[in-house]
Amino acid sequence: MELDYQNPGLRLDQAKSNLEGRIGWESPSNIAIIKYWGKYGDQLPRNPSLSFTLSNSVTRTWLDYAPRTEKEGGEKISLKFYFENELNAAFGKRVEKFLLRLLGVFPFLGELDLEIHTENTFPHSSGIASSASGMSALAMCLCSLEQKLFGTPANEEDFLKKASYIARLGSGSACRSVYPELVAWGTHSDMPEASDFFAVRLPKEQIHPVFSTFHDDILIVSKGVKKVSSSVGHGLMDGNIYAENRYFQARQGFSELLTCLKNGDIHGFGKIAESEALTLHALMMTSSPPFVLMEPESLAIIQHIQNFRAATGLPLYFTLDAGPNIHLLYPEEVSTAVGIWLNDTLLPTMGCIQIIRDKTGQGPRQLS
Ligand code: PMV
Repeated sequence: MELDYQNPGLRLDQAKSNLEGRIGWESPSNIAIIKYWGKYGDQLPRNPSLSFTLSNSVTRTWLDYAPRTEKEGGEKISLKFYFENELNAAFGKRVEKFLLRLLGVFPFLGELDLEIHTENTFPHSSGIASSASGMSALAMCLCSLEQKLFGTPANEEDFLKKASYIARLGSGSACRSVYPELVAWGTHSDMPEASDFFAVRLPKEQIHPVFSTFHDDILIVSKGVKKVSSSVGHGLMDGNIYAENRYFQARQGFSELLTCLKNGDIHGFGKIAESEALTLHALMMTSSPPFVLMEPESLAIIQHIQNFRAATGLPLYFTLDAGPNIHLLYPEEVSTAVGIWLNDTLLPTMGCIQIIRDKTGQGPRQLS
C-alpha cells in the first residue's frame, strides 16, 4: 500500500518555531550492485536494487528560508538556486519543478522565499551522476525544515524513511543514499521490510565486515553529457523484449547477493556485480531504439581488470553506472596491490584518465 505523506496542515500559521533560518546537509552518491533499470508509476522500481553508499563523492546543500515577501497564496515556489556559488537557471528549473510536485507533502514551501546553495566534492562534469547525492541532500534539508517548523517527523527512523521517499521522487536511486553502507530499494520476498516507496538499510548482522570497508575507485573515461538520460533509458525498458527476464534475473541476483554479503563471499559478490553491469549495458543495446553508453576505453579497462585478476588471483571487480565510467570494486586487504597496478600499469596505458578514490560510507551528515 502506498505511503501517504500528503499533509494540508503543514502551513506556516501552524509552525512552532522561527520562520527564518538555514539548514545544511551533506549527502553521498551511491553505486548499485544490483541495478534499478525500468520503472512504473511515480518513480517506482520494476525490480529490487542494492547499493553501496559512498564516502567521498558527496553533495553539500544549504537551504535558506524566510517568510515570503510577495504574498501569492502558495501556488508557486519562490526559489533562487546557486550551484558552486553561481546562479544556475537550468538546475534551478529542475529543482523548482520538483518542489512544486512536493507542495501537497510540504505546503509550507509555497509560503517561503527559498534560496539553495549546493556544491559537489567531485569535479564538475566529471561524468559522475550527481542526482543521487544532490536529490538526497535536498530531501534531507526539506525533512529537516519540516522538523524545525512543525516537530515532525518525530523520530530518526520516520525522518529517514520520509527523506528516502522524497529523494526517490527526485531521482529513483537517490532514495538509497539516505542510509549508510549497504542499502536495498524495492520489494523482495527475502526482505519483508523492503519497499518500492523508500529504501531500507541492510542490518549490520547481514553484512560481513569485509564489505563495510569495500573500495570503489571511479575511473573517469569520458566527461561528456550522456547521450541518453537515465529517465529515457528507464522508459525504453517498457518495450524491451528482455524486460521480464531481466526483472526475474535481478530478483534472483538480489537473493544471491544477500547470501554473499552475509558470508563474506567476495568472489560471488564480484561475479554478480560484473554480470549486473554488463546486463545493464546489454539492456541499453537491446532497447528500441538501441543505444551504447560505453566507450572503447570502457571495454579496454574491463579487459585489463580481467587480466589483472587472472594474473594475480586478487579479488578486483568492476561495475558500471549508466555511463562509460568504470567503478573498481575491491576489499581493503588488496588496496595496496591495486594502487600499485593503477599507478604503474593501468593509468599509464590508458592515457590521462581521472580517478576518484572512494569507499563505503556512513550516509548523510548534517552541516552546522
Ligand atoms: O536514479 P536514476 O533514475 O538516475 O537511475 C539510476 C540507474 C542506475 O544508476 C543505472 C542504476 C542504479 O540502481 O543506480
